[in-house]
Amino acid sequence: MSEALLPDPISVTVRAPAKINVYLGVGKVRSDGFHPLETVYQAVSLYDDVTVTDAGEWSVSTITDGAHVDAAAVPDDESNIVIRAGKTLAAHHQLERTARIEVRKSIPVAGGMAGGSADAAATLVALDRLWNLNTSDEELLALAAELGSDVPFALIGGTATGAGRGEVVTPVEDNGTWWWVVVFNDDGLSTPSVYGAYDLLEGGDHDYRVRPALLETLRDPAGNPDGIGVFVYNDLEDAAFYLRPDLQTSAEAALECGAMTTLLSGSGPTMLAIATDADEARSIAGQLAERGYDRTAVVHGPVAGAHVVAYG
Ligand code: C5P
Repeated sequence: MSEALLPDPISVTVRAPAKINVYLGVGKVRSDGFHPLETVYQAVSLYDDVTVTDAGEWSVSTITDGAHVDAAAVPDDESNIVIRAGKTLAAHHQLERTARIEVRKSIPVAGGMAGGSADAAATLVALDRLWNLNTSDEELLALAAELGSDVPFALIGGTATGAGRGEVVTPVEDNGTWWWVVVFNDDGLSTPSVYGAYDLLEGGDHDYRVRPALLETLRDPAGNPDGIGVFVYNDLEDAAFYLRPDLQTSAEAALECGAMTTLLSGSGPTMLAIATDADEARSIAGQLAERGYDRTAVVHGPVAGAHVVAYG
């Protein structure tokens, strides 16, 4: 998170990664409506870029390269999480300042890859640099947790466990380079609806702790020739498949195309297939395209959390 400061930049661009949950264990709903989680996050090579400049009032605009993202689905008013992030940072420092925020999106909207959380994390870092605030990492993580369960992870990136409602993040040693085929889906799936279906179907009355063998394989990839495929898991998968049977069909297609394991990404609807290397990932993506699943991306993780890529 910390970079050397340049004096008085006019604009700052920060890049933040999408996340996947290599493991997502979900417990019984809490009295505040959130679910206790035990998760292993991994930041992957699909990014949003956020550029901030000083302005007389808060504004946000979203542009997209078109591939997987429906920019029209992103609010362009103060309900957008990036403006909430900016206001939270300004209030924390008792500043009256406001900014124009431009988001260049490649992470799908409502896709289960924490795109909005990435944008919020990027905004915190970008405004901190634009305004030379020197906010400590601890403070940034606390502000991020106020904004959403996945925002702290987007700050730190890499691979990390998440506890609490996901906001209590602890980096874990990950010495692998893991390749994933991301299968995008046009129809967003609301996170609360998936948790709601989970409560109805399962209720979370089980041991949902992260398997130590997964953490050990991340630390020592050579120690397990099967890789992490046998340990990945998502408690929300049955609930998402219940709401959206087409997701199960896409998972089955990925298996038929040679994927060792498939996994729902977060609360969906994005699906993931694990590959042993980049070539296999590209081969699976190619075969999926032949079956009509042509909106895919080959990504790898872990990658860095929110970081400055340009000062203007
Ligand atoms: O924290 P965030 O804003 O991302 O959460 C969005 C919604 O997802 C929450 O309002 C809640 O319905 C659900 N959620 C949950 N348990 C979590 C995280 C999210 O039930 N640990």
